[in-house]
Amino acid sequence: MASKFQAPRGTFDVLPAQSRARARLQAIATGIFQRAGYETIQTPSFEDTDLFERGVGKSTDIVRKEMFTFEDKGERSLTLRPEGTAPICRAYLEHGMHKLAQPVKLSYVGPFFRHERPQAGRYRQFHQLGIEAIGTASPLADAEVIMLLSDLLGELGVPGVVLRLGSLGSLDARAAYLEELKAHLHRHEGDLTADVRERIDINPLRAFDSDDDGVQGVMASAPTMLESLSDEDAEHFAEVRALLDAAGIGYELDPTLVRGIDYYTRTIFSFVCDTLGAQSEIGGGGRYDGLIEQLGGPATPAVGWAAGIERILLALDEEEPALGRDAFVAIADPEQRGRAMALVTELRNAGFSAEMDLGGRGLKGQLKHADRIGAARVLILEADGSAQLRDMTSGEQRAADTGNLLGEMTGGEA
Ligand code: HAM
Repeated sequence: MASKFQAPRGTFDVLPAQSRARARLQAIATGIFQRAGYETIQTPSFEDTDLFERGVGKSTDIVRKEMFTFEDKGERSLTLRPEGTAPICRAYLEHGMHKLAQPVKLSYVGPFFRHERPQAGRYRQFHQLGIEAIGTASPLADAEVIMLLSDLLGELGVPGVVLRLGSLGSLDARAAYLEELKAHLHRHEGDLTADVRERIDINPLRAFDSDDDGVQGVMASAPTMLESLSDEDAEHFAEVRALLDAAGIGYELDPTLVRGIDYYTRTIFSFVCDTLGAQSEIGGGGRYDGLIEQLGGPATPAVGWAAGIERILLALDEEEPALGRDAFVAIADPEQRGRAMALVTELRNAGFSAEMDLGGRGLKGQLKHADRIGAARVLILEADGSAQLRDMTSGEQRAADTGNLLGEMTGGEA
C-alpha cells in the first residue's frame, strides 16, 4: 500500500506502538521536573531568524548550515527552532520574568529542527526535553540541573551512561584563552585540515572535535580552557564538582569538552551513552551567563540542558508490550448496538478500557478482532437480551448479568 508520498528525509512518524515508550519517558520526566519545581513553558515552533543568529552564534554549524529558514509573506526571515534555550530567554525577557522570584525554573518538551545529514540518532526533526534555571549564578543550580538529568536517565534505566564535565570559564577569561588557542593553531597550520584551518579565527574550539589524526596531534599539545580558568571560574567549577561528589554522581573531567553552541560560559556537561555509536550524546548543556544580555536584557546568569528523546529511546531499545483492552463488547444481533454502546460507556466511565466493533462485523469476526487487539474479556450480547462473558485467555465462558457489569468485570459481586 505504499504511495509516492513518504515522510521527508530525516523525519519520521511516531507510530502508536512507539508512542507508548515516549509517553512513559515523558511521564517520568514530568514527575521529576515538577517535584523539583520546574514548570512547563511552550514557545512557538519558529522564531525570528535573528534570535538564533545572535543567541546560538553566527559561527556555529547550526546557524551556518543547519537552520530551516524561510520568509513569510511580509518578507520577515523566520527559522524553525533548532534549539530551545534562546527562545526561552526571549520569552523570559518578553514577559518580564525577571520580576518573578528568581531563579525562574522552566521545563519544556517538543520538536526541534536542524538540517543535518540524517543517520541513526540524527534527524532533521527531532524531539528534546529540557530544563532551564534562569536568574542564579550559584554552583548549586549547576549541580541541581545535572542531578535532575542524571536522575531521569537513572529512573528510565538507560544503560552505559557517562557524564563528561568541563568548564569554559567566563567570557573575559575565555576571550584571552581563545587568543592563546588561535596562536597555537596558527603555529601548526601545516598539520590542520582545510576545514579546521579556515575556522581558526572564527571558532578555534571546534578543532578539539576533529577526528583527523593530524588535527588531534596538534590538539594534544594545545592549551586547554581548564588550565586557563580565572580564580573565580576555577572556584565555581570546584564547587560544582564538590556538590556532585557529595551527591554521589560520578563524572569524567574533560578538559577539551566543547559544545556546538556559542552561548556557554563556565560549566558545560554532556551525558553520553556507549551503545549509541557516532551520535552518542543523549543530552547536555551548561551555563549561559551572557545569553540574556546578548539578547538585549540585563545581565542574568542561567544554566540548563536538553536531551534528545529519540536518542534516549535508542539507548533504551525496549519493546513496549502491546496495550491490550480490559473488555470488548460484542453483539450477536445488530439490534443490540445501542445497548452495547451504553455498556462500553459504563465500562469506560468506571476506568476500564473497553471497545466495541465499529466495522459491521459478524459475531465471529468481532471475536477475532477482540483477540487481535488483545481484549482480556469479551461480553457477548445475545439477540434475546441475555449476555455471556468470555475470558479470552482461558476461553471460559459463562452467563453474565449486564445489570451488574462492574461486578462481573472484577469477578465478584458489585
Ligand atoms: P544540543 O547539544 O545542541 O543542546 O542538543 C541537545 C540534545 O539534543 C543532544 O544531546 C541530542 O541528544 C539531541 N539532538 C541534537 N541534535 C539532534 C538531531 N539532529 N537529531 C536527534 N537528536 C538531536 C541544545 O540544544 C541546548 N539548547 C541545550 C541547553 C539547554 N543548554 C542549556 N540549556
